[in-house]
This record gives sequence, structure tokens and C-alpha cells, in this order.
Amino acid sequence: MSRLESAIRRLEAQLACLNRAAGLIADIPGPILELGLGNGRTYDHLRTLMPTRRIIVFEREPMAHPDSMPPPEDLIEGDFRETIPGALMFTRSPAALIHADFGSGDKAATAALASWLAEAVKPLCKTHTLIVSDQPLPILGTTLLPLPQNVLEGRYQMQQMI
Ligand SMILES: C[S@@+](CC[C@H](N)C(=O)[O-])C[C@H]1O[C@@H](n2cnc3c(N)ncnc32)[C@H](O)[C@@H]1O
Repeated sequence: MSRLESAIRRLEAQLACLNRAAGLIADIPGPILELGLGNGRTYDHLRTLMPTRRIIVFEREPMAHPDSMPPPEDLIEGDFRETIPGALMFTRSPAALIHADFGSGDKAATAALASWLAEAVKPLCKTHTLIVSDQPLPILGTTLLPLPQNVLEGRYQMQQMI
């Protein structure tokens, strides 16, 4: 598969999983946490899908497209390792949805961050919190959900706190 094809599949997977997530959390109160703003594409999609939901974004280098920049009160700037512990202070309640898209070309660093995040996000979760991620996040107390049709196993992950 070419890199172009791979990038397209990744975006299709994100789109399908986030669309599915919006339906799954419709009756679950709480904010959405976006871990990794990047260009702001998924942030923009989430706010389009769920315009009344608060979306709090965690990002160390906010450089999104200007149209997709969260308001300052919903942007927690800094490395996850500094901002996620104690983030309940900002979110004020556990999340309905955590979308974590933080993978980089550095496989070892990405795996180490995933393993750290799997433990660190637990205080931000409650029963039924949905976690959608680009990396496998081995969060204790969750059950893996089936992926939308046409999303290959391993490309994205959806899990829910029991
Ligand atoms: C793949 S991009 C996210 C793309 C985004 N979902 C979009 O649709 O545009 C990953 C983002 O995660 C951020 N990130 C990665 N590791 C981080 C860390 N340890 N702390 C804070 N932000 C981090 C990067 O700076 C980058 O902006």
C-alpha cells in the first residue's frame, strides 16, 4: 500500500470511528477530551458533530489551522505528561469521550506514550466513557468495541469503560 493510500485509510478510519462515537455518547454526559490537536481536523469534526458539547484539547504545540483553533479556555497547552495528571481540575467532570490521536514516526516513543496514557487517563474516565485512539491503549476496566465496517483491525481502536 502506498503512503497516500495509507493516509486516506487512516482518515477514513478516523471519520468512521468519530461518527460512530458521536452516536454512542449521545446519552453520556461529560466533556470530550481531544488528546493531540495537530492540524485540528478531528477537533473540527467533533465540534461539527456535537456543537453543544464542551471539547477540551490537550496539545504541546498548538499549530492548528486558524479556523480549527479551540478557544483559549478549552486548550490545555503542554506535554501530556504534565497536563493530564490533575486535568480533572480543568474538565471538572470525567469525560464522555476521549479521542487520542498522538502517534508519530517514532514507534518506540509512541508505544511508551501509549502505555503511560493508558494509566494516566483513568481518573478522567467513568463508567461508559468511550476511548477512541489511533494507538492501542491497554486501559484496565474497558471492553473493546467492534470497529465500523471497512475500518481494519489495528488501524484505530474503540473501547468503553465498563
Ligand atoms: C497526529 S497529530 C493529531 C492530528 C489531529 N487529530 C488532526 O486531525 O489534525 C498528533 C498531535 O499530538 C501532539 N502530541 C504528541 N505527543 C504529545 C505529548 N506528549 N504531549 C502533548 N501533545 C502531544 C502532537 O504535537 C500533534 O499535534
